[in-house]
Amino acid sequence: MKIGIIVYSHTGNTLSVAERIREKLTAKGHETELKRVIPAVDDPKVKAPMEFASAPDATDYDVLLFGSPVWGFSLSTVMKDYLTKQPSLSGKQVGCFLTHAFPYPWLGGNSAMKQFRGLCEKKGAKVAATAIVNWSSKKREKDIITASELLGKIGG
Ligand SMILES: Cc1cc2nc3c(=O)[nH]c(=O)nc-3n(C[C@H](O)[C@H](O)[C@H](O)COP(=O)(O)O)c2cc1C
Repeated sequence: MKIGIIVYSHTGNTLSVAERIREKLTAKGHETELKRVIPAVDDPKVKAPMEFASAPDATDYDVLLFGSPVWGFSLSTVMKDYLTKQPSLSGKQVGCFLTHAFPYPWLGGNSAMKQFRGLCEKKGAKVAATAIVNWSSKKREKDIITASELLGKIGG
């Protein structure tokens, strides 16, 4: 079973969480690939639909973990546009993780996760686990460990 970790990261925070989750899955003996979503112009002002320099094919994997930052109390426009353009993910098990910087999850994390989950479900995927990491919190390391444990359980 191949696990794809597909991540968009503008400043590197979400990417570093993706790497930690990957370590966890690799330690459990899973075959994992970490792929980045890269917009042609990596600027939060760019609106959807946008061009991509890299848009990994999610259908290559049995299990998918998607990661993104929160932007403007929402899922980043990049991840939204990327997922919207994916073909059906019917029957696939999916995990979603977010990083954000404002102090409380209700300042963006929760609503962004609702959108994230909704977009995956719209593609037919089954969202088995979600995790939110508050990058500016003292609990950041704890959040990352929790995210790695929760998402690391996907795939058995
Ligand atoms: C354009 C923009 C909008 C943002 N909006 C929010 C927000 O609404 N809530 C929040 O908690 N953090 C917000 N942030 C902070 C990012 O979510 C946070 O720094 C995240 O960890 C960045 O991840 P990255 O390094 O993978 O890009 C915003 C950052 C940017 C660049």
